[in-house]
Amino acid sequence: MRLKGKISLITGGASGIGEATAKTFAREGSTVMIADRDETNAARVVGEIRAAGGAADCVIVNVGKPADVERMVQTTVDRFGRIDVLLNNAVYTAMGRVADIALEEWQRTLDVSLTAYFYATKLVLPIMVRQRSGVILNTSSTAGFLADYKLVPYAVVKAGVLALTRNTAIEYARKGIRCNAVCPGSTATPGFLRTLTRPKGFKEIYENTIPMGRLAQPQEIANVMLFLASDEASFVTGAYYLADGGFTAHSGNPYVPGQGPDWE
Ligand SMILES: NC(=O)c1ccc[n+]([C@@H]2O[C@H](COP(=O)([O-])OP(=O)(O)OC[C@H]3O[C@@H](n4cnc5c(N)ncnc54)[C@H](O)[C@@H]3O)[C@@H](O)[C@H]2O)c1
Repeated sequence: MRLKGKISLITGGASGIGEATAKTFAREGSTVMIADRDETNAARVVGEIRAAGGAADCVIVNVGKPADVERMVQTTVDRFGRIDVLLNNAVYTAMGRVADIALEEWQRTLDVSLTAYFYATKLVLPIMVRQRSGVILNTSSTAGFLADYKLVPYAVVKAGVLALTRNTAIEYARKGIRCNAVCPGSTATPGFLRTLTRPKGFKEIYENTIPMGRLAQPQEIANVMLFLASDEASFVTGAYYLADGGFTAHSGNPYVPGQGPDWE
């Protein structure tokens, strides 16, 4: 077991990548605290982890509210006495072209998907410094590097998450704390699959842009999280790990028909 006896706090742990990571960490011996605003799914994931013999609990929060982030951290410490791994992973994003994004929507995206990551990190760091150990993981995205249509708020928070990761890493590297980011490519989570339902056939078009020709499964991202959370990654800090099926390896340049990939 690679996380035996550890206490992990996972935001957005009630669905998708957060859920797969929570279950993976629990299988590897960690007690998992799921912090999510979705009470039904949080309870479901806790139930499934316990049914599989793991240890889990949940705290219902909107991480976009600083008071909820404070309660999330305090509840975890009150319940389990320490925090060994923090995974900042919950997300909200506004969508629209730059000139069309309402200021309130821009702010909400920053609150949930960047400020919450900073604030949870800020509150957990003194705990980890006292422990002289800890791992902070942040879910970024290939969107932290690349532009997409109508997704400027998402790109900005995901790039911000990378900067937060690097700065946290160097400031706390001598305190026994590591901080890394995972940058998934398109992953078959409930959240992402909802965006691919229209128009008909869009999922296939989308998958064809990925060299591996398919979306990631949440477990494939959770596997990277596990490595980074474990002692196997003891010299890894300030890094980002892409798991994108080769998506960012491709320039995106068009090719002469007939001289492209061998599956056409
Ligand atoms: N799925 C993808 O293709 C993909 C690709 C790159 C990065 N990511 C990133 O992975 C992370 C997880 O995404 P996912 O696809 O698993 O999403 P998802 O929608 O399946 O799950 C997100 C979870 O976050 C919770 N959540 C949302 N807002 C919250 C809030 N304000 N407070 C508390 N909980 C909140 C939701 O209730 C849900 O349980 C996100 O940071 C996302 O940006 C996903």
